[in-house]
This record gives sequence, structure tokens and C-alpha cells, in this order.
Amino acid sequence: FWAAAARRRLRWIRTFDTAQDCDLSRGKIRWFEGGRLNVSVNCLDRHVDTCPEKVALIWERDEPGSEVKVTYRELLEMTCRLGNLLRRRGVKRGDCVTIYMPSCPMAVASMLACARIGAAHNVVFAGFSAEALSERIRDAQSSTVITVNQGVRGGKVVELKKTVDEAVRSCSSVQQVFVAMRTEKPAEMTAVDVALDEEMLKEEVVCEPAAMDSEDVLFLLYTSGSTGKPKGLVHTQAGYLLYAALTHRYVFSYQDGDVFGCVADIGWITGHSYAVYGPLANGGTTVLFESTPVYPNPGRYWETVQRLGINQFYGAPTAIRLLLKYGDQWVQKYDRSTLKTLGTAVGEPINTEAWEWYHRVVGDGRCPVVDTWWQTETGGICISPRPAEPGAEIIPGMAMRPFFGIQPVLMDAEGNVQNSTEASGALCIAQPWPGMARTIHNDHQRFLETYCHPYPGYFFTGDGAYRSKDGYYQITGRLDDVINVSGHRIGTAEIEDVVNQCPVVAESAVIGYSHDIKGQGVYAFVVLKQGVDAQKGDVSQQLKDMVSKRIAKYAGPDCIQLVKRLPKTRSGKIMRRVLRKIVERELESLGDLSTLDDPTAVQEIIQGHKELC
Ligand code: WTA
Repeated sequence: FWAAAARRRLRWIRTFDTAQDCDLSRGKIRWFEGGRLNVSVNCLDRHVDTCPEKVALIWERDEPGSEVKVTYRELLEMTCRLGNLLRRRGVKRGDCVTIYMPSCPMAVASMLACARIGAAHNVVFAGFSAEALSERIRDAQSSTVITVNQGVRGGKVVELKKTVDEAVRSCSSVQQVFVAMRTEKPAEMTAVDVALDEEMLKEEVVCEPAAMDSEDVLFLLYTSGSTGKPKGLVHTQAGYLLYAALTHRYVFSYQDGDVFGCVADIGWITGHSYAVYGPLANGGTTVLFESTPVYPNPGRYWETVQRLGINQFYGAPTAIRLLLKYGDQWVQKYDRSTLKTLGTAVGEPINTEAWEWYHRVVGDGRCPVVDTWWQTETGGICISPRPAEPGAEIIPGMAMRPFFGIQPVLMDAEGNVQNSTEASGALCIAQPWPGMARTIHNDHQRFLETYCHPYPGYFFTGDGAYRSKDGYYQITGRLDDVINVSGHRIGTAEIEDVVNQCPVVAESAVIGYSHDIKGQGVYAFVVLKQGVDAQKGDVSQQLKDMVSKRIAKYAGPDCIQLVKRLPKTRSGKIMRRVLRKIVERELESLGDLSTLDDPTAVQEIIQGHKELC
């Protein structure tokens, strides 16, 4: 199946010898070996050959009505100029270029220029702080960074170049920073900076594409795990592209001529697969959304749908929940008759109320809603309805059925595959698929431990799931300490790391709790060092600021509860389960507390929580 799809849907320089050579138990995942291709050729040249003037990108800029259209021919030219520039400035095949830019054509051209010359890209979400950025640049060992002078979002200017300046100060690997101009304001240029727009104009519009092996690295993308540092997941060329293209076409019923509107930022996997690679591989027209769902008002998405004639809209549950609260009139004001498919669940579950509203109000009850389950690790959608199939049923809030070639299994607590149709358990995938991540950059051992060893022979997703008697899947949430805030994935351990570095903090425990709009909020229990006066200065505010500054704004705790001690087992392990129950107000089901070192800690925390909320 995959070999036939790869032959039919990709343009090869040399065709592959074997479809796959994989052994999940050893974390060996190799697809289409012997094959050579260039991803940028697949996303650009082959469409320029047939329809050069077709619009590839619609850049939906922050100010409504100021969109910019870029044709396939223009995007190829930009990509080639940029590819030549990178080559001339010493970027070589196998290098990794970090891209810190908002969603815009130059960012897409940067990604594709890397692909053109055989360099890997590492896009860092432009909402990340200088410190988070520098950690990712260092881990990826990038010597080249591409950024913009300033970003513009929700009517506000964001000083991206300044953040890069701060980040590269602690990155000895960085030799050059390309700065594109998003606004008029000149950036203060340092010795490593290069004016991107100007330099690009000096380059040729033809750039020889590198012949890449199927399994060469296409990109790294950092995401949070349950412990320690973010991990740089590695995606490779042919398998990733094929999987992104196929899922884009079949999950959303994308047809030639459609305008595809994925509003996710290119800094996340959703932006990679469904704003860039999937649609472009399919020769589609894709929207790059620079703004926010509420700028200049809560009708923004639907006004954009009307103005651009969007046919498939793919958005996050957190935004849908937010817009639902503003009422139907913001939707009904605009003509949404072009819409055919609505997609959701960019990183988190959608509750039934939000699903129903999306379906009934936004889609006028006529557009199927696809609740798509997947992860940075899976490269593309793995479980989701495929509404184009005759008789395909869709149940609100359920991700429904596996995509072609995906074999989900549910494991019980003992690690056995659950054979009965109706079951719940840890969600694993039994067979490798082309789009899956191959490893963690510089840490294959961690890849094995996280995904391959928990259930030998299976890929472990970290999520729990329920399978109905009809065989439909519903995702029940993470089984580890990863939480999802407004669709942004973050490990609680990462937040604790920052909180614990505050000089007045002795220790902390961070958990996620249900939040109306964000899906999950961040709740921090903090023990201050002895003798610290909690009244002095606003410790809570200080901690919130620290987390925002060190990681990103969305990671900042919504609630900070200062406690005398944390509930721990006698062996010193923090009992997070108990903390979660307290915050979710499920006091009757705190569970067995007999292993607690000091049971009075729990009573104190319950009392403190009541006073705080
Ligand atoms: C969660 C985003 C419920 C899940 C594409 C997963 C979902 C994590 C769904 C990955 C869904 C994703 N229903 N939960 N349809 N889709 N998730 O890597 O916990 O940012 O493990 O990828 O989001 O988040 P990531």
C-alpha cells in the first residue's frame, strides 16, 4: 500500500528499493530506502510545471483585508534565492537551521530552502522566550538562525529580533542570523546579522535541489515530554511528506482548487504538516494565519473564511471554546457557504458542547467535523473520521477510526493487548507508519525509553483511549505528566524546573487542571524556603513572570498555592494524584493515603485550596 502510494504521489530522483525496514522494539524505522528525492521539488517544482500561477500561499496578515497571495512560481523563486543564499553563506547538507518566525511566506520559503539544499530546519514557535529559544538552538547545534525584525499579532508588535539577540548570546554555535523585514522599523544589526531581503535579491532564481536519501533528516521539532528537557523529534524526508500529503487529502476531503485554512502557527507540528507540507505536496492553496481568533473582534475567523473563500477550516478546541462564549452573532454575520469540512483537536480533546456548536453554528449543521488525534511524534493525523467515505459515521467528541495503515491497540495495566472491542487502556500503535518520528535528536536512548520500551514491539503514545463497542476511538488524555494548555503541550517538570530555581523556593509540584477555555490550566504548589516571608514582595507574581520569561507566556501558572509541605510517600515521591484530586475537588476519591509520610499535609493543602479559590 505505502509503496504504491509513494510511487504515485511523490516525484523521485531515484526510486526506492524497499518500502520499509522497521523493528519497533529496537526503534529502527526506515521507509523507502534507496530512494532519492527533494521535498521542495515535490512541494513546488512539480506544481510550477503544471500550474505556475496557482496560488500556493495566502498570507492572512494580522490586519484583516491586507492578505498577500503568493503563487507557486513566486514561492519557488523565493525558495531558490534563499537556498542559494544559504549555500553561499556556508550552510551545508546535514546542517540544522533554526527558524524563529511567525507564520508568513518567508518562513515557508525558509523551511523549503533548507529542504532544497539538504539542511534540516528547526522551527521554534515565535512565542517562546529567549531562553527556550537558546536551549533549542544549542541542542540543535545550529550555526544559522533566520528571524524577522518584528512580529505583529493582535495589533501588537512583538520584538522577535531582540529575543533572538538575547538568545544567541549564550549560543557559541551561531555564526549568522538572517533578518527579514516584517515591519518598517529597522532592526539594530549586530556583527552576525545579515539583511535577508536585500541579500536574497542578489541571488539567482534557480537553485539546484539536493538529491536527498529518503531517511535523511527533514526537520527537528522540539516538544515537551514528561521529564526534563524538551526533545527534538526527528522527521525524515519521504515518509513524512507522503504521510502529511495523504492525511491532508483524505481526512479533510481536500480537492484541487480548494482553499485550505489551517490556523495553527508554523511553530507547531500542525503548522508543519497542515499549513505547509501536506497542502503544498498536494499542490493546494494554503492559508498562513498571522493573527488571533479575537482580533480585531471575535468574528475574525469567519470574516476570513468569507473573504478568502476557505473550504476546509482546521482550528484548535481552545479557540472554539473561547468563541462560543461570545455568541452566535459573530459567526452568523459572515457567509460561510464555502466551508466543506471543519477540523479540530490540534493537540487537545474537544468537549461535546464545543463540538456541537462548531458543527451547528459554524458549519450550519452541514459540514462534517473531524476530530483529529495525533502528535508531534506521529507526523500526521492517525485517528480521525474520513467523512468522504460513504456511510461514514461521526460521533461528537470522538476521533473515531484509524487512518490507513494505522493499527491502534489498547493495553491494560499489565501490558497486555485488550482484545475485546469495547475497552480502555494505554494507546499504542502496533505497526510503524511512514510519518512517524525516527528518533530524538542526539538521544536515541530517550526515544527508546519513551516510545518503544514501555510496550515492547509497539509504539507507545503516552495517551489513554477508549474504544466503543462499534470499534470507535475516543482519546481520554495523557497518561504522563504532560499537560495541554490552550493546545500547547508542556511538561509539568519543565515548569517545576523554573519555579525551583527561584531563590526563595524550596520545592514545588505543578499539575494541570480543567480550565473552561484553555482546556487545562497550570496549578503550582510551592513550598518556600524556611524564613522567607511570603508577604514580602509578591512571590506568586514573581514566579508567574519567571515562568513566562523562561519558557513562554502560556506556561505561566494560573494559580499558585503556597504550602508548608507537599504530600509525599515515605520514599519521598510527591503524590501528584492527590494534588490533582484536591484541585479537581474530588475529595471523596483521594484514594489510599496510607503510604503518605505525613497525612496532615493533605488537610493543610485542602484548606489552603479552599481559601485560594
Ligand atoms: C493531545 C498536536 C484529544 C494528546 C497535534 C496528544 C488530543 C497531544 C487530540 C499531542 C484529540 C491530540 N483528542 N487529545 N483529537 N489530538 N491530542 O504533540 O494528548 O502538540 O498526545 O501534537 O495532544 O500534542 P502535540
